[in-house]
Amino acid sequence: MKEYQAWAEEVLEKVREKMAWVSEKNRDKIPYTTDEDGNYDDRSKAGKTWNPDDGLNWWTNGFWGGIMWLLYQDTKDEKYAQIARVSEKKLEKCFEMFYGLHHDVGFMFLPTAVADYRLTGNEDAKRIAMHGANLLAGRFNPVGKFIRAWNHIENSDTRGWAIIDCMFNICLLYWASEESGDPRFSQVAMLHADTVLENFIRPDGSVCHIVEFNPETGQMVKSHGGQGYGEGSAWTRGQGWAVYGFANSYAHTGRQKYLDAAKKVAHYCMANLSESGIIPVDFRQPKEPALEDACGACVIAGGLLEVAGHVPELEKEMYVRAAVKILKAIADTRADWTKDCDAIVQNCSASYHSDTHHFTMVYADYYFIEALYKLAGKGIFLW
Ligand code: GLY
Repeated sequence: MKEYQAWAEEVLEKVREKMAWVSEKNRDKIPYTTDEDGNYDDRSKAGKTWNPDDGLNWWTNGFWGGIMWLLYQDTKDEKYAQIARVSEKKLEKCFEMFYGLHHDVGFMFLPTAVADYRLTGNEDAKRIAMHGANLLAGRFNPVGKFIRAWNHIENSDTRGWAIIDCMFNICLLYWASEESGDPRFSQVAMLHADTVLENFIRPDGSVCHIVEFNPETGQMVKSHGGQGYGEGSAWTRGQGWAVYGFANSYAHTGRQKYLDAAKKVAHYCMANLSESGIIPVDFRQPKEPALEDACGACVIAGGLLEVAGHVPELEKEMYVRAAVKILKAIADTRADWTKDCDAIVQNCSASYHSDTHHFTMVYADYYFIEALYKLAGKGIFLW
């Protein structure tokens, strides 16, 4: 394990060096991806050409702040806290718009407002995060016992849709209960997690992206392929949300069945891990085109490391070894350490059937950096 730690520390040195100038250059932005010249965009400024769910409400807008908090806890450089708070203040404006917010408030406010509160005790940040938690709890369908995903999507009735990604968002509810002493939030989180356990995880350990329930009766209707290859496939980032999300649920509740679920999906991922350590967009996609998702890779690696943190010594090594294989593939072959690009992790894909693939996504950098800190023994729990 010591050699893995030393390797992570070596890569973190490169991260610190790169993020020192990337953070300065983009201090007033909330980036998502880089343009053809390698410059970060600014989702907090997006306007007319983007649909109402984009712009400031864009679901990944918490990750830039999250990266800043990770660097702050490591370097203690106030600059990173200041930049993180730029995101936090901007995101508070989303409450005024309201309609653009949905299940992803966890992804938006955990790495920003909750991180700020956890690391600095900032009461204003706690207020913002509590607001987000209340909105998330309000999306719970009590008959189907799931948190509804998204809002209106053209040509789809999404009232009964639940998605695997939400296993991360429910951490905002666990936090709200832990902080307020009011069990309602974590009760909603656990009911949702139980529904996912029952309806998303297949016997082989792979998971569905979207499961549709009848919103009136709560009956399961069908599953959808979502961002993966198709119905019945195994969208890799979704597998990562499941491994890491169930491990987080275990960390918050101590319920063994959540850790068992995380391990089951982890074993599916490890069994399908290629020799190269490169992760496709979907474990069940055709061989060609060889579409990759380096972001899904980083989420899976983070999930494996989280699982490793909760199992007996004898079991740890297998999860850590698989995580390191994935992270090494990223660091050695999919990372840009130069000044040509603001992002580190390259070759990410939002979904299998999108027109564009292999670009940068800020949350790939977040999960990559977070996993390196975990491996180096310097992790902080932001979920
Ligand atoms: N949570 C949406 C995604 O992973 O793309």
